[in-house]
Amino acid sequence: MTAQLIDGSDGLEGVVAAQTVLSEVDGAAGRLIIRGHSLDELAGRTRYEDIVALLFTGFFEDLPADVPAALGRARVEVFQEVSALDTGLLDRTPIEAMRALTARLADGDDAEVAFRLLAAPAVFTAAVVRAQAGEAPVAPDPAMGHAADILRMLRGRPASKAEADALDTYLVTVADHGLNASTFAARVVASTRAGLGSAVLAGISALKGPLHGGAPGPVIEMLDEIGTPSNARAWIEAALDRGDRLMGFGHRVYKVRDPRADALKAAVRWLDARQGRLEFAEAVEAAALAILRERKPNRSLQTNVEFYTALLLEALAFPPSAFTCVFAMGRVAGWLAHSREQLAGGRLIRPASVYVGPTPKKAA
Ligand code: CMC
Repeated sequence: MTAQLIDGSDGLEGVVAAQTVLSEVDGAAGRLIIRGHSLDELAGRTRYEDIVALLFTGFFEDLPADVPAALGRARVEVFQEVSALDTGLLDRTPIEAMRALTARLADGDDAEVAFRLLAAPAVFTAAVVRAQAGEAPVAPDPAMGHAADILRMLRGRPASKAEADALDTYLVTVADHGLNASTFAARVVASTRAGLGSAVLAGISALKGPLHGGAPGPVIEMLDEIGTPSNARAWIEAALDRGDRLMGFGHRVYKVRDPRADALKAAVRWLDARQGRLEFAEAVEAAALAILRERKPNRSLQTNVEFYTALLLEALAFPPSAFTCVFAMGRVAGWLAHSREQLAGGRLIRPASVYVGPTPKKAA
């Protein structure tokens, strides 16, 4: 096969690196399809466990028939690792502590390993957030739905149905999204046959960056610093003058609308937890979009998933420092399904590079 040269500075934009039956991100139409269903059909109408079953079917010979029960059992199993949460880990950011606990789980390729990895970000994040606030961890309840149990483990008391539904909407919305950076990282690791645990750790590590899953925490900082709608323009202009990026705007693939932003905005509206917060955020969003249009007339920079993620997770009382962990609670299903798909059909992922450095003075 002839090698095709790709400029390393282009972020592999437009390069097709995998074939998948899992999801399609249609940037031109602003549409996300997950195994034959559009996100509009799924978000707000299905539970996270349903999406797990949808993504995992056909990829595990030993897939449990009762996915909610298997996920409940897995939450209980991984909770044992919470005892390893020492003061050293508590000084780290929630995602670093959650990643360290996830790394303690045994690696492997079967459904049992996959379900523990699926449960890990949820159970460990709740325990880390509570421990950092000086509170004891709350053990999982295997009989509860995943979203409802996450909120209970986080707060120590049951959440309302509306709150659990809103978290389900979020987890479903972010469960899979084509070959995003963290899923690509997971597929590369899976292609070496290192195991699903290693692939998930690669996914968490890639997700952590502010250009990918790390954006929603800074969205809250931005909103808090802006404070009132009348400050929006001046704050945004100053940020762009400094060369900063506006968190929660722009996307590599979506150039019309990020359908996930719409799904999450609807969920924030149902919750309506903090009077006026959504209206304020909408005013900031409108100012940001207008300024981005003025400054980058040739780019179509739209609101992405992270802007309304920030509002939703804030309304659900997650601390902004743990927002990326909540993203991982949902996206871990996609990492696992893609890793199994990669194992089923793919060769080792090993692209080439072109050497453009100096040549040795003397031939070796
Ligand atoms: N604020 C200001 N300028 C921006 C932004 C932004 N949020 N996004 C892109 N641009 C500009 C960028 O400066 C560049 O301008 P120019 O051509 O004049 O140099 C141009 O738009 C293209 O930028 P790029 O970095 O080549 O585009 P990309 O396809 O790599 O960017 C992105 C995708 C998400 C990294 C970027 O839009 C960004 O940094 N956004 C802010 C961080 C963010 O919200 N991340 C969450 C992404 S959604 C979750 C997920 O699916 O991962």
